Amino acid sequence: MERTLVLIKPDGVQKKVIGQVVDRFERAGLRLVGLKMIRLTEEILKIWYAHHADKPFFPNLVADMMATPVVALVLEGEGAIQKVFDICGVTDPAEAAEGTIRKDFGESKPKNVVHRSDSAEAANKEISLLFAPEELF
Ligand code: PPS
Repeated sequence: MERTLVLIKPDGVQKKVIGQVVDRFERAGLRLVGLKMIRLTEEILKIWYAHHADKPFFPNLVADMMATPVVALVLEGEGAIQKVFDICGVTDPAEAAEGTIRKDFGESKPKNVVHRSDSAEAANKEISLLFAPEELF
């Protein structure tokens, strides 16, 4: 059994697709074990995206992620990390497979609707940054 984290980013919140995004994960058999709306801070984002700190898009990435509150989901299931990866599609919506969230609702690399953990290590880091143990069910 694995757990993974998804953020519905500000562009997804603004497009009003929160329900449709959650529905896709539930339909795939994943179990929602944590859910909250939260405003990300610069402090959290510097840790979250530490691996992108030297990229030219980093300042815009941090600003974009603070534009509105985001929705954080923790999903549980067998092979959850890969399943969520497949449901979201690759980073660039233009290259994402048909039927993925990013293909259907995304518009660009920065505005790609969702973030998902890309490894078990990232999932642990991201879940513990946003959720206290008692917020997971
Ligand atoms: S890449 O292209 O290999 O750097 O992509 P990746 O490592 O998968 O994720 C990059 C994350 O930064 C966000 N972002 C951008 N990526 C590329 N180009 C630009 N201009 C850009 N702006 C923001 C992108 O949405 C990825 O965020 P996450 O939250 O990981 O999906």
